[in-house]
Formats: sequence, C-alpha cells, structure tokens
Amino acid sequence: MKEQLTQALGWVDARFPLSKMVKEHATEYYAPKNFNFWYFFGGLALLALVIQIVTGIFLTMHYKPDAELAFASVEYIMRDVEWGWLVRYMHSTGASAMFVVLYLHMFRALLYGSYKKPRELIWIFGMLLYLIMMGEAFFGYLLPWGQMSFWGAQVIISLFGTIPFIGPDLALFVRGDFVVADATLNRFFAFHVIAAPLAILALVGAHLIALHEVGSNNPDGVEIKKNKDANGKPVDGIPFHPYYTLKDAVGAVVFLMFLSAVLFFAPEMGGLFLEYPNFEPANPLKTPEHIAPVWYFTPFYTVLRAIPSIGGSAFPGVVAMGAATMIFFALPWLDRNPVKSIRYRGIEFKIALTIFVIVFIILGYLGTQAVTPLYEIIGRVCTVLYFAFFLLMPWYTSREKNKPVPERVTFK
Ligand code: HEM
Repeated sequence: MKEQLTQALGWVDARFPLSKMVKEHATEYYAPKNFNFWYFFGGLALLALVIQIVTGIFLTMHYKPDAELAFASVEYIMRDVEWGWLVRYMHSTGASAMFVVLYLHMFRALLYGSYKKPRELIWIFGMLLYLIMMGEAFFGYLLPWGQMSFWGAQVIISLFGTIPFIGPDLALFVRGDFVVADATLNRFFAFHVIAAPLAILALVGAHLIALHEVGSNNPDGVEIKKNKDANGKPVDGIPFHPYYTLKDAVGAVVFLMFLSAVLFFAPEMGGLFLEYPNFEPANPLKTPEHIAPVWYFTPFYTVLRAIPSIGGSAFPGVVAMGAATMIFFALPWLDRNPVKSIRYRGIEFKIALTIFVIVFIILGYLGTQAVTPLYEIIGRVCTVLYFAFFLLMPWYTSREKNKPVPERVTFK
C-alpha cells in the first residue's frame, strides 16, 4: 500500500510540484517558535472564511434573489429546509465571528508592528481584504430583504448621493432604480455570491504568498531569518507542519466551541448580529424608528454622524468615514519607530494604542445607539482622538525611548 502511494505521489510530482509545495509552505517552512495567542487569528480567519463559503453555497440552493420572494425564502430556510436554521445561523453568526477574528488579527499587527518593513504588502493586502469583507457583509445584509436590510442599504447608498456633481447619478447607478428595489437586490446578490468572494480568495492568496516570501513576524519583532544555523535554517524557527498545524488545530477547536455556544444559545446576540427589525419584511413605506448598521460597522457610522453637515449635505461626514477606514493603509509609513514589538517600544505608543482601542470601542457602542446631545459630544471627541492616533503618529513614534531588542526570540 505504502509503495503504491509513493508511486502515485511520484507520478503526480513528475507533473505537478505537490511535494515541493508541501515542503516549501509546510514541512520546511520555518515559523518563529514564540508564536502566542495572537497568532491564532490568521488561521481562524481562514477557517471562518471556509465556513462562510460552505454555508453560503447551501443557502444559495434555497434562497430566491427576488424582491417578491427573498424574505419568504429565508423564512422557508429557517422553518422548512432540514437543518436550514443551522446553516443560516452559521452564516449570519459566522459573519460576526469573522469580524471578531479580523479585528483581533489586525490588533495583533498593531501590537507587534507586523505592518512594518518588510511586511507592508502583507498589511496592504490585508487592508484590501478588510474593505472587501465589509462590502461582502453589506451586500449580504440586503439579501433577507427585511426592514433593516432595506433601510440600511437605502441610507448607505444615499451617502454616495452626497458626493458633489456625480453623487445623484452614482447613487442611481449603484441602486439600479430610484429606490432600493428588485434591481438592487439582484446586483447585490451577484456581488455577494460571486464577485466579492472571488476577489477575497485571490487576495487571501496574495496575502499568504507575501507572508511566505518574507516570513512571519513574532511577539518579539525579531527577524528569525537573520540568525541561521549551518544548514541555513533559522535557529529560532520551527517547521510549520507539524508544530503549528497542531497548535492551530487546538485553536480551531476552542474557536468552534465559542462559536457553537453563540450559535446554539444566542445566534442573534440580542439583536447585535441579526437586528430585530429584520424579522419584518422590507416595507418602503415604513421607516424603522432607529436605523443602525451591524456592530462591525458602527465605529465608522459614529464618525459619519459626528461630523456636522454643511449646507444640509452629509458629504463631510462621508469623507471622514471614508478617511477613518482608509487611513489604516498608511500605518507602515506613519509609524516612524523602527522597533516592531510593543514589548520593546517606548511608553508613547503604548498609551496611544490603549486610548485608540478604548476610543474604537466607544465609537462602536455609540453607533448602535440613537443620537442624544451627550452622545454627540462624546462621538465628536472620540472621532478627534481616533484621527489623532494616526495623524500624530509620526511625531510621537519618532520620540519613543525603546528598550533593547534581544538578538534571539524569547521563549519559555
Ligand atoms: C479573510 C481575511 C484574512 C485572512 C484569511 C488572513 C490570513 C492570515 C494568515 C493565515 C496569516 C498567518 C498567521 C498569522 O500571522 O496569524 C496572516 C498574517 C498576517 N495578516 Fe492576515 N488575514 C486576513 C485579513 C487580514 C487583515 C484585514 C489584515 C490587516 C489589515 C491582515 C494583516 C496581516 C499581517 C500584518 C500578517 C503578518 C503577521 C505577522 O507576521 O506578525 N490580515 N493573515
């Protein structure tokens, strides 16, 4: 049997570099031996992506992308299709899980300076992934054709309308009609099930190719490739397989335990993952009392609302919201400290990052709430602090007093 398998592998290897790829990317791919908790989330993002794609395929078998039928087809999936409720909840709760994982994954990059030279492109591909993921979630949210699907899309698309000169035509072009309608639903379906997923898969490929070209960073921010043994292997590296495949498998099991707990006991998370107005069919004649996006968009929604309109136009808010997401792209060039890991950086970055995380959470919370005068002030202060984190970065990161960075990774 073993002989036959070896022969079959030889046959494949003579025609396709299978063994070579497994060696290059797994058994002889050396990763730093000091990965910690924060290094689980890239692999978990991959797992979450696979869950979304597989459950998405099954949902598409029963879903009807038609304004007359969409809402009822989702109800049909929930009530009549065998295990349909589970597949649907895996997909809707899975979307939130994906963003939890992505935010933690991005935070890790901030902690350990993983966006810095030579990993700028890994970061840029990651940011593109994040933006397309947001688009993917937005397109998907319209599909159940509930009240929040409809009105959320109405609000967001009308933001395009605030762009001077081209805005109204652009909004019409995106909607395909004068209001959010069947044409909008059909194109969002096309984007959600094929266009965006293709782009996401291509970008995940680019993200990982770039990562394997330069090698992973680690909690010490030490470049393991600088310290190799006589055989040319990094002394602080261990083969990705079996060491990290096994470690990541443990992480995946723990992640699936948390996901299952939410899935089976609180799939809507009290209206946070699936908003209650979305259990009512879309009604163009009845605006919900309080329109709010899903939690992973709310920090940016608060930035949008924090900026006052000029002459009745919300365009300044739209610009601020766009800038709040895009500014992450500039991080590799805004951070002037050559030391990567927060472990060895000065106090300035530690304080700035702590404030930033608190501000991000407050902005997120405010975005789920109706505006009050007090919330408006807090929203504005937090918006200023949010941008200050980035815009003042060249200044405070160039005056940090670093601790000495060790030659080798620290590992107990
Ligand atoms: C579908 C989305 C994504 C997937 C599947 C994904 C996957 C991965 C994987 C498997 C790794 C290696 C394991 C690890 O370091 O945790 C990684 C590393 C990395 N990712 Fe992502 N990622 C995604 C999105 C993002 C986003 C949104 C960003 C940031 C904007 C990002 C930034 C990075 C960086 C900087 C690294 C290198 C980290 C280091 O070496 O310290 N990724 N990613």
